Amino acid sequence: MSASKSASGRPPSFQYHKIKEAGASASTLHCEDIPLTSLADRFGTPLYVYSASSIRQRYRAFEHAFRRQRHTVCYSVKANSSLAILRLLAGMGAGFDVVSGGELERVLQAGRRLARKVVFSGVGKTAEEMRAALQAGILLFNVESESELGLLAECAARLNKHARISLRVNPDVPARTHPHISTGLHQHKFGVPLSQARNLYAQAAGLKALRVAGVSMHIGSQITRVGPFADAMRRIVRLIQQLRADGLPIHYLDAGGGLGIAYSNSSPPPATVSDYAGALLRPLSKLDVHLLLEPGRWLVGPAGILLTRVLYRKSTTSRTFVVVDAAMNDLLRPSLYDAYHEIVPVQPASCETELVDVVGPVCETGDFLARNRGLPFVPEGGLLAVLDAGAYGMALSSNYNTRPRAAEVLVDGSAAKLIRRRETMADLLRCEK
Ligand code: LLP
Repeated sequence: MSASKSASGRPPSFQYHKIKEAGASASTLHCEDIPLTSLADRFGTPLYVYSASSIRQRYRAFEHAFRRQRHTVCYSVKANSSLAILRLLAGMGAGFDVVSGGELERVLQAGRRLARKVVFSGVGKTAEEMRAALQAGILLFNVESESELGLLAECAARLNKHARISLRVNPDVPARTHPHISTGLHQHKFGVPLSQARNLYAQAAGLKALRVAGVSMHIGSQITRVGPFADAMRRIVRLIQQLRADGLPIHYLDAGGGLGIAYSNSSPPPATVSDYAGALLRPLSKLDVHLLLEPGRWLVGPAGILLTRVLYRKSTTSRTFVVVDAAMNDLLRPSLYDAYHEIVPVQPASCETELVDVVGPVCETGDFLARNRGLPFVPEGGLLAVLDAGAYGMALSSNYNTRPRAAEVLVDGSAAKLIRRRETMADLLRCEK
């Protein structure tokens, strides 16, 4: 049931099939059973297209890898917070990792009863967000500082409630990923240092409105080797043993998220979900805990693409630019992290490739989806698919240059559902006076 890229390099839900067009037959990229050409005609571009089967398949594969361990998968909402995707995952039994009152509200909109499977992380929770989470009755607050412990205790006491807490501990291990998304080193803002953890736990145990229940960590994102996870787990397991010896009831170990995906076919391939499970579970063998997992990207990244149309082609003395209708406001990852996303023509017309920059209409040189990329020729009006855009694509989008955000479609077999309509100018101007 591997959900990794197929031998052809395409994620299994995005494959080329022949379709008849004007009497001729054209190889056309599909999402499940639907040609992307028809989605572009029906919903316009730029368009995010997600495969429901792919998300289900990946969720099952993730669950399967951890089947021998008591656990809950708390999908990290920040990766893709679309209500339709939250409902799809909730229907499969997922819990959720949220980092703001807004994300919590999205989960509650997907289902009020989902609150009991919500963990709340983040270095800057406000009193208002804490109250909302306490009222909703979430599973666990991942607390990141001494001051936050105090404020949470105060909020819970005022509401006459108890807050179940874990401390997010910073295990001080290098995640070997992009520096912007590495979080588990001592110089990062996240969590509390291991060396301070026991004292803070003792303090928390003394606060009447708090219930110490777990330990949590998250060392970074797009991590493609399992070594850092294993190192961090060993440190956390040692801490749990000490805390239990101190008499604290540690029921949960929240291992965070971070497992990476293959954005390109470069070797070696990233660690598989079963390598990942092995690395997390081995240090746990003698510890009776309920494991919480917060995957985001791995579940939804390869299940989504960004569909965009070529507006213009132009060649300067040194470059060929393919100007498309999607831009950095739609998919920020290339501009922000120099991230690589594979780009393929929806209807390849030739096998010969040319070296191009795929750029958007935004007025910044940093507005590109790919630079110096070998792509088959795509004419003006042709369609391109930017692959592996299901995670941190729409979620990081903005209205920069007063560009309405793209629409989103969820495909399931031969059905396509519009799950978010394209924004209009009225939407963009709504809050202004
Ligand atoms: N848990 C916590 C506490 C997190 O901060 C994150 C991601 C996750 C779970 C999920 O991590 P994942 O399984 O998706 O790697 N915008 C960046 C990624 C930022 C990740 C932030 N935290 C990107 O586009 O690569």
